[in-house]
Amino acid sequence: MDLTEYLVPKNIFDHVSSAANELGVETYVIGGFVRDILLKRPSKDIDFVCVGSGIELAKSSAKKLQTKKVATYKNFGTAMVKYEDHELEFVGARKESYRKESRKPSVENGTLEDDQNRRDFTINALAIHLNEENFGQLVDPFDGVKDLKKKMIRTPLEPSITFSDDPLRMMRAIRFAAQLKFDIEPDTFDAIINQADRIKIVSKERIIVELNKIILSEKPSYGFNLLFQSGLLQHIFPEMVALHGVETRNGKSHKDNFFHTLQVLDNISENTDDLYLRWAAILHDIAKPPTKRFHPKAGWTFHGHEDRGARMTPGIFKKLKLPLNDRMKYVQKLVKLHLRPIALVKKEITDSAIRRLLFEAGDDIEDLMTLCKADITTKNPNKVKRYLQNFILVEQKLKDIEEKDQLRNFQPPVSGEEIMETFSLDPSRVVGEIKNEIKEAILEGIIPNEKQAALKLMYKIAKDKGVKSA
Ligand code: CTP
Repeated sequence: MDLTEYLVPKNIFDHVSSAANELGVETYVIGGFVRDILLKRPSKDIDFVCVGSGIELAKSSAKKLQTKKVATYKNFGTAMVKYEDHELEFVGARKESYRKESRKPSVENGTLEDDQNRRDFTINALAIHLNEENFGQLVDPFDGVKDLKKKMIRTPLEPSITFSDDPLRMMRAIRFAAQLKFDIEPDTFDAIINQADRIKIVSKERIIVELNKIILSEKPSYGFNLLFQSGLLQHIFPEMVALHGVETRNGKSHKDNFFHTLQVLDNISENTDDLYLRWAAILHDIAKPPTKRFHPKAGWTFHGHEDRGARMTPGIFKKLKLPLNDRMKYVQKLVKLHLRPIALVKKEITDSAIRRLLFEAGDDIEDLMTLCKADITTKNPNKVKRYLQNFILVEQKLKDIEEKDQLRNFQPPVSGEEIMETFSLDPSRVVGEIKNEIKEAILEGIIPNEKQAALKLMYKIAKDKGVKSA
């Protein structure tokens, strides 16, 4: 198959080809770039492999491309060239397993065939010849093109060998299946089931990269179901597996919270590409298993699962090597508040309840509403309609109150310092009490969110507490 027309930008391939011819080294473009051009998914990262020194080829290609941006990694025998918005990676063909992040420099030189043998999947082992005589010719020893057409993830070698070379590939198989909407070939999937426990030897940092890519795919439940069925999920994220299952007592059953969570995740993914809002969907019910109780009258309850879930969030982030920064705090806040809008519509919607929600959610109020809407997973269309109408009501109320009271990112109109100064107080409990009572009065709608009203109330509270002005 001649793929010359796909080799764009043309100047990159022409220059690398001419460098390869001058050096007399067999050279190919290989891996994800070839897969992606055949799938018509343009990609900026281009991998070149040559039967010789990748570093020499990189230097010579960079010269021709008139760029000085060359980084060489002698231990790995690789080099990276930046050209416009492309990253070109050069490597010598090798016999050993291809592992980018491996600390162990594995550079036993090999042929193109050796190199292709050691790659993860048939669709990632495709190569295109760049030397003059065969320029543009596809080299496809494992029927990768056929697998692309069949939409199939398959290892080039016996799957147990490919996976034991680098167990992260088990996650990658599922990640590619999720991103490309492919199936995993049955023998390949069986090998994942058999070796799932070996994922334990892979660093958490590499695992989370793949997991996040699965979460960011169009329909994340597909990847999660594969992670679950293969047994990998149990090893990398057991708290999520604990959501699985239905218990029945006295004829009363609760829903399967694992599949419910996946439904919420799919729902929210239709409305957001934000990784952490998707994480909030994954974690919103994470504390249902530890809070589950059965009461003969009320049936199954999960009291406090939102608070417990919020408390579990930092530990889960830490274990999974997700960032422990404001993104974690954001997820934690959404988990904690995820029942509040629902609770609101169950009762009469009071202004003060709306004010409190606005005060606590701040700028994340819209994301919280997105999460709550995604949380509606009932199959009963009438109920769905009713819930959504209720949410529209809450949203309208939120808007009204927001315009009136400006409570988003609420800053108390009287600060602690002002209270201390006015009454010559040292930092003490009474200062906090006065401040809190003012805040409560605003949230309850007893006084407006304004300075004068707050000052007046401050004097009154102080007087009631027997605090004298300075
Ligand atoms: N590769 C491999 N085993 C790994 C990682 C990578 O065999 N554990 C090989 C594959 O041939 C892959 C190439 O290295 O195509 C480049 O890897 P990477 O950049 O991680 O993936 P891409 O296939 O380019 O896909 P994406 O850009 O979506 O990550």
